Amino acid sequence: MYLMIKLLGVCVAVCVISCLMNLLLKQISREYIRKLSPENANFIAMYRKYMRFMIRHHRFFGFAGICILTAHGLLAYMQIGLSLTGLIAAFLMTTTVCSGSYGYYLKKNYRSAWLDFHRMLAFLLLVVVIIHIPIPFFI
Ligand code: HEM
Ligand code: HEM
Repeated sequence: MYLMIKLLGVCVAVCVISCLMNLLLKQISREYIRKLSPENANFIAMYRKYMRFMIRHHRFFGFAGICILTAHGLLAYMQIGLSLTGLIAAFLMTTTVCSGSYGYYLKKNYRSAWLDFHRMLAFLLLVVVIIHIPIPFFI
């Protein structure tokens, strides 16, 4: 069961990282890909295709992450105890997904204050996940 908890935790972490690839891929595109010579047209086209796929689908990684997180958190709580850092990570993950859903489905505007909020939550989530993995901190 412990292995299952760890495995589910790793799956949640993979979902969080896949969501954050949004930022990383755009940054790499701005800093490096745009400056490549036209000789690399094939590579540029492939990169753009991959980037577009990851950007368009990052919300699904977020939704999948929330589902797996529920199983990971519940199993961990029932078998080991309540993790404070895990709880904070779960709160941040939920608010990140809610703010993203608000911007995407309700506001339908990708350049306003919600995006700064969404980006800030995503960054905080990463920090807390990095702390949670080595330090579950049981309460
Ligand atoms: C975004 C949310 C979360 C992520 C990415 C995450 C990720 C992980 C990972 C990767 C591990 C395995 C660490 C290892 O191999 O030693 C882990 C362990 C664990 N997590 Fe989470 N977790 C999250 C949320 C939660 C929540 C909500 C709880 C419970 C309230 C929780 C409780 C635990 C516990 C108890 C362990 C086992 C610690 C141990 O056996 O040493 N996690 N988590
Ligand atoms: C853990 C979950 C999530 C994380 C870590 C995350 C992370 C991010 C980050 C870092 C950005 C900023 C990209 C940039 O600066 O250009 C972003 C943008 C965005 N996110 Fe999320 N996100 C998550 C879930 C979601 C969900 C569930 C939705 C919608 C249902 C969503 C919708 C959006 C939209 C519409 C944008 C702006 C346009 C774009 O770059 O795609 N996000 N997200």
